[in-house]
Amino acid sequence: MNFGVIGYGYWGPNVVRNLAGLEGSQVRAIAEMSPAARKRAQKAYPGIHVTADAAEVMTSTEIDAVAVITPVWTHYELTKAALENGKHVFVEKPFTSNTAQGEKLIELARQKNLCIMVDHTFLFTPAVRKIRELLEEGTLGKLYYYDSTRVNLGLFQHDINVLWDLAPHDLSIMDNLLGTRPEGVVATGQRHLNSHEDVAYMTIYFPEKVIAHINVNWLSPVKVRTTLLGGEKRMVVWNDLAADEKVKVYDRGVNITNREGMYELLVNYRSGDMWAPQLEQVEALRTELTYFVDCISSGTQPFNDGCAGLRVVRMLEAASESLSKRGALVYL
Ligand SMILES: NC(=O)c1ccc[n+]([C@@H]2O[C@H](COP(=O)([O-])OP(=O)(O)OC[C@H]3O[C@@H](n4cnc5c(N)ncnc54)[C@H](O)[C@@H]3O)[C@@H](O)[C@H]2O)c1
Repeated sequence: MNFGVIGYGYWGPNVVRNLAGLEGSQVRAIAEMSPAARKRAQKAYPGIHVTADAAEVMTSTEIDAVAVITPVWTHYELTKAALENGKHVFVEKPFTSNTAQGEKLIELARQKNLCIMVDHTFLFTPAVRKIRELLEEGTLGKLYYYDSTRVNLGLFQHDINVLWDLAPHDLSIMDNLLGTRPEGVVATGQRHLNSHEDVAYMTIYFPEKVIAHINVNWLSPVKVRTTLLGGEKRMVVWNDLAADEKVKVYDRGVNITNREGMYELLVNYRSGDMWAPQLEQVEALRTELTYFVDCISSGTQPFNDGCAGLRVVRMLEAASESLSKRGALVYL
């Protein structure tokens, strides 16, 4: 499979490195607008054609699939051009700037029988795969809540607010883990340094009383990537920055009984063992790109396809509407 990559900024080099290392795939061209980034690409990969012109990659007959690793406001036009030229597309999160764009791209890919994969990298991390396993086998019991803190100092994006930058990770994880569609969204936030929110909080209501909260912040003095999942039987603490034991399962919870003839509730706290399941040592992006190549070769629709990308964009759009109304509940 021959790839063209558009965008060699912060994330692009990771995509190129993984594609170049995959068996059965090679990077034929990189398009990058910035001369400094082009220089870096050429130095790292002297054998790959590097150009300033994305159209050159789109129209090349040598290229089967295009990776769009540019800012979100460019995703629609670049993905559309790639599909129109008969290329499969691996596009960064968030998929598009709005739902209308996402719907058009999904329809175009369907007409052309091409594959869109949205880079929801976290779905391929050993930690998220393990948490999915714990949920599926019933270790956590019925899920009560998902609570994520994703804060650090910078990297400020110029075209989007902090929710559109960092929340797609959690939104795609929840979309994948819960398998249900959210009912409503509340988002609050504040702009301190430019016209985009740099601190934001998002609450998502899912069916069956599952509630999610996401705290995202570009103005935090320290980096935190911690997610709690509370279940009826057990609870998980996932610290993505931990060198090992990233996922810890706590056999803790609360049992409530209502003894006959008594009106007050009896609350029993359960405080059992904690264990840290063994996680694979693999790079998520490599697993994901291998899956992309497999999906194209076998004609299979990936689970992180355009529709999955669109579901995340829909939640982000609802969050933007709620933000503009200072936290009004927006139904989905
Ligand atoms: N999956 C992840 O974990 C993850 C991590 C970081 C970033 N991202 C996503 O990757 C995308 C890029 O983010 P980044 O941090 O690398 O941004 P960046 O600004 O560092 O890099 C983007 C690059 O694209 C180039 N570019 C833009 N339009 C172009 C065009 N038409 N033709 C050629 N080059 C073009 C820019 O010159 C720039 O070098 C974003 O959508 C972001 O959300 C995903």
